Amino acid sequence: MKGYKLAIVGATGLVGQEFIKILGQRNFPAASILLLASDRSAGKKLFVTHREVEVKETTTESFKGIDIALFSAGTETSRYFSPIAAQSGAVVVDNSSAFRMVSTVPLVVPEVNPEDIKWHNGIIANPNCSTIQMVVALYPLHRVNPIKRIIVDTYQAVSGTGSAAVDELTTQAKQVIEGQTTIPHVYPHQISFNLLPEIDVFLDNGYTKEEWKLVEETKKIMHDEDIAISATCVRVPV
Ligand SMILES: NC(=O)c1ccc[n+]([C@@H]2O[C@H](COP(=O)([O-])OP(=O)(O)OC[C@H]3O[C@@H](n4cnc5c(N)ncnc54)[C@H](OP(=O)(O)O)[C@@H]3O)[C@@H](O)[C@H]2O)c1
Repeated sequence: MKGYKLAIVGATGLVGQEFIKILGQRNFPAASILLLASDRSAGKKLFVTHREVEVKETTTESFKGIDIALFSAGTETSRYFSPIAAQSGAVVVDNSSAFRMVSTVPLVVPEVNPEDIKWHNGIIANPNCSTIQMVVALYPLHRVNPIKRIIVDTYQAVSGTGSAAVDELTTQAKQVIEGQTTIPHVYPHQISFNLLPEIDVFLDNGYTKEEWKLVEETKKIMHDEDIAISATCVRVPV
């Protein structure tokens, strides 16, 4: 069959499911799609363009013969398996933050810096979701009149944390409505009927990791270290 041999690492997760959906919608020229996750999901079946495909455990042998590997299985999984996939000959597109700020890895938003793909060494990083939306809007302005300062506030849904967070919001919303006590697991505080001005951990500079990603990733993508950026990121119960 003609086309690329694809692997999706994290196929059972929220992002992995979107990968599968969009590949189908766009009729991506895939010769085969290998669905990978952890050992927890091995054997599970998922639909890929109306066909059931079995999920396999990700191992060091998973990437033999793979042309493109899409990773969305968390930072640690990417850090371990992406170099192995790249060494096996696959081009890795990594959705985690593992390689975004590594100088030898391009951080690419197709609408802004597609030319950076050319210098990849097997791994291409995909930015944080807030960064992507912001630079797509700002880059055309920046090209006409260079931006000196950005003050950005984001209000981010629980889906950005993954499927466990979506479940936590649903459970807590029910508990609050029924007058029960909520016990947070995914977030440090109750998220239902609440706003948390804290996404990821706080850094020594007073920003959270999520806020600092907006600062650093924007400069790398726009190739401009001089833009002054201040970010505030808030998790909201949607
Ligand atoms: N959600 C978003 O909007 C968003 C946006 C941009 C980037 N990202 C990034 O994408 C990644 C995944 O996010 P998500 O929201 O899809 O999370 P999620 O819903 O929690 O899914 C996590 C996925 O990773 C897999 N996984 C976990 N440990 C693994 C391991 N050791 N080996 C192989 N697979 C493993 C899980 O497989 P099992 O089913 O076996 O547990 C599952 O498929 C994260 O790095 C996240 O930061 C998320």
